[in-house]
Amino acid sequence: MSQKELAVIGTGMMGQAILSGLIQKEVFSPASIVVSDPDGQKTGRLQSDWGVSVADSNPDAVAGAKIVLLAVKPQFLKSVMRVLKGKLSPESLLISIITGVSVETLRDGLEHDAIIRVMPNTPAQTGDGISGWYAAAEVTIQQKEQAAKILSALGPAVLFEKESDLDIVTAVSGSGPAYVFLFIEAMVDAGVQMGLSRAVAQELVVQTVKGSAAYLEKRAAHPAVLRNEVTSPGGTTAEALFFLEQGGLRSTVARAMWACYERSVALGEGQSHRKGPVS
Ligand SMILES: NC(=O)c1ccc[n+]([C@@H]2O[C@H](COP(=O)([O-])OP(=O)(O)OC[C@H]3O[C@@H](n4cnc5c(N)ncnc54)[C@H](OP(=O)(O)O)[C@@H]3O)[C@@H](O)[C@H]2O)c1
Repeated sequence: MSQKELAVIGTGMMGQAILSGLIQKEVFSPASIVVSDPDGQKTGRLQSDWGVSVADSNPDAVAGAKIVLLAVKPQFLKSVMRVLKGKLSPESLLISIITGVSVETLRDGLEHDAIIRVMPNTPAQTGDGISGWYAAAEVTIQQKEQAAKILSALGPAVLFEKESDLDIVTAVSGSGPAYVFLFIEAMVDAGVQMGLSRAVAQELVVQTVKGSAAYLEKRAAHPAVLRNEVTSPGGTTAEALFFLEQGGLRSTVARAMWACYERSVALGEGQSHRKGPVS
């Protein structure tokens, strides 16, 4: 690809995950990528390790770039938008992975129309993530194809017609890894309590979670079917499931995900401070 295909603003965890996927999968040549981040050590390392260029400032980075990837934390967005307002060329595509920031906020703050908003998740860092994305009406078909290519560096990506669906994506897959990690932690801790070493308990649990997900995908069945298959009458699994149900696992998960969704909506409306825990 030719010069300055992609400008990456913010090279933290997610910015680097996307960069590394794009370079490894040869979506862009390192020579066509420019990065910008206040941490010169970080960008210097990216330059020497991957051969990308480093811009002196955010406006320098976006000047002439076909695609601009915005990967800063939400609290830095206002200052970034202040310096970038009106600086993106009208033909360029802006891709934002910033949680809870609407297309309208970006459009007003940057005076730019072709915007794609993405909700990735942390396994993206190893290419094992899943993203939900939404494209503003001004994004061309060709730009959507480019975005799909870029997002494929993070894992599969699902395009949504309604921007508001991204709040649901946040509750399901965006925050999802944290729920799974908590469940894994609880299972490992119980294994340790029963006498296994932490290393062995973790190996058993991680492979169980991985294997169950892979098996479910291959069988393409409803999860309840597979659960019933391992639940013999009067057996050990039935005993465990009784206590999970008695503890309200399903309704607790549903309530937690609704709370996540509501928080995502509130963040999108500019309520950065919580009103307090929802009961
Ligand atoms: N992590 C996730 O799983 C996840 C999932 C979904 C969405 N997201 C979204 O992805 C975005 C990035 O998250 P992250 O975890 O990668 O955060 P991060 O590691 O903190 O990375 C943000 C980077 O932006 C840099 N930065 C700060 N101000 C800047 C400026 N004015 N110009 C250019 N760069 C600037 C930061 O530099 P310093 O370190 O010097 O401050 C940092 O390197 C966030 O908006 C988050 O909501 C993350």
